[in-house]
Amino acid sequence: MNQPIAALLSTALNHELTASEIEKLIEKPKMSELGDIAFPCFTLAKKLRKSPQSIASEVAGKLSDGMIQEVNAVSGYVNIFVNQQWVTENVLQAVLREKEQYGSMKPAKENVVIDYSSPNIAKPFSMGHLRSTVIGNALANIAEKNGYHVVRINHLGDWGTQFGKLIVAYKLWGDKAAIEASPIQELLKIYVKFHDVAETDESLNEQARASFKALEEGDEESLALWKWFRDASLQEFAAIYELLGIHFDSFAGEAFYNDKMDAVVGELKEKGLLAQSEGAFVVELEDMPPCLITKTDGATLYATRDLAAAMYRKKQYDAKKTFYVVGNEQSLHFKQLFKVIGKMGYDWSRDLQHVAFGMMLKDGKKMSTRKGKVVLLADVLAEAIETAKRNIEEKNQALEQKELVAKQVGVGAVIFNDLKNHRMNDIDFSLEQMMNFEGETGPYVQYTHARISSLLEKGQFTEQAIEFEALGEYAWPVIQLLEQFPSIVQKSFEQADPSQIAKFSLQLARAFNKYYAHTKVLVDDEWKQMKLSFAYCVAAVLKDALRLLGISAPNQM
Ligand code: ARG
Repeated sequence: MNQPIAALLSTALNHELTASEIEKLIEKPKMSELGDIAFPCFTLAKKLRKSPQSIASEVAGKLSDGMIQEVNAVSGYVNIFVNQQWVTENVLQAVLREKEQYGSMKPAKENVVIDYSSPNIAKPFSMGHLRSTVIGNALANIAEKNGYHVVRINHLGDWGTQFGKLIVAYKLWGDKAAIEASPIQELLKIYVKFHDVAETDESLNEQARASFKALEEGDEESLALWKWFRDASLQEFAAIYELLGIHFDSFAGEAFYNDKMDAVVGELKEKGLLAQSEGAFVVELEDMPPCLITKTDGATLYATRDLAAAMYRKKQYDAKKTFYVVGNEQSLHFKQLFKVIGKMGYDWSRDLQHVAFGMMLKDGKKMSTRKGKVVLLADVLAEAIETAKRNIEEKNQALEQKELVAKQVGVGAVIFNDLKNHRMNDIDFSLEQMMNFEGETGPYVQYTHARISSLLEKGQFTEQAIEFEALGEYAWPVIQLLEQFPSIVQKSFEQADPSQIAKFSLQLARAFNKYYAHTKVLVDDEWKQMKLSFAYCVAAVLKDALRLLGISAPNQM
């Protein structure tokens, strides 16, 4: 309710404060006898040199709207009682009318680019990449719901010195047949071996640098090996994306920019931004280390490729906003990148945002690929699905499409576990916890949705015109949540924070379950159709919230 009430207050105040400024000031009165919403007039009083109480009275006199039941000016506060009847009717009718469009913004023509997932070729898809994939996908769905046209880009790590290492390792120890049978696992094995051996044999790194240089210069044999590594890896990644239900508009990764870097390096030089430092070229930056553009041997770097990518995307998509969904450990890289673009004179560097996230921990420890100590995402998903299957066998033997539902629940559990806390938090990975049907989990929200679906079926719900009366004290918290959904959709985009949607879905599920525990829905009284329509609204919004997160909502489980 805060958003529409803030707008009304803003008008009553002749826009002395904007609606969003007011929204930040709005409180919930300490005692519910005082009202549902309180607006304190103290800061405004200072600004206008008036007493808080006189402002409060003035505003209270002007506020009138269907959604407001009563307004009082008390000790410098505007205390507002909302009209529950009015809000109930308006919110539920809006959901019934708009269904999965409820909370959607009108489509604008603007683009939003989301750079996410972006695994490294020839390495396993790590849990860190899972985080990027899941967060990026949710942000993409949320941006679409906010009316943007979204470009989903997988900026594959398919270029860089590691391919020099891999080519050297392959020539030394590669087993073609083994790689064909199980590409990523085998390539990882020789990659790890490379690092082990290079610890004592310095010449190996030298060779790798030379080998990458050859690759960048288009050496055919190296290119053929690279392409083989890339194709084989992509095939393995595709299976994971399919399981997660994720798609991309572009797989233009680092290699894609290989022929686009000279232009950027040239532009940097022209603009006088390139400085030589021990044979390498860098852009000097204030308050942070310089950004390395080319190495002594002329080879380009990760940052150079990201620069070229930013220029290319600007031309191609002219996005209103670009999100880079990448772990927090790369925050310096993105600060440098955006700074360099700003120094080149491009004010659109302001529209670029690093959407950082914390680490995935296992038993409180970091998971790393370098040493081969890696938890494979594919294994984790398989285990989650297996657990879901066992749960179904226990609880709902007769369920149709067990396989499909187990997949939806297992995958949903993993995704929800990732998204339910703010992305900057590290998350600990406990399969048991994330699968708990009664915890703060994906399966809990899915289960609530499925329960409502079966309720609607048993009650033979069909849509028909209806007028809502008060649905009782346990329904009111549910209605308030439904009312908030559109503003949560908006905020989760503005703050690039899918956890707001996840938390919302938990609250909504919990509030509805409480209502349901206190209400007999399936009795043939005069309110039955009203109660079923209400339940239908909750199911529709739960389903859409899960969809935004990238989670399916089966009708039975
Ligand atoms: N491949 C990189 C990694 O795994 C992430 C790339 C992120 N995107 C970007 N435009 N730099 O660390």
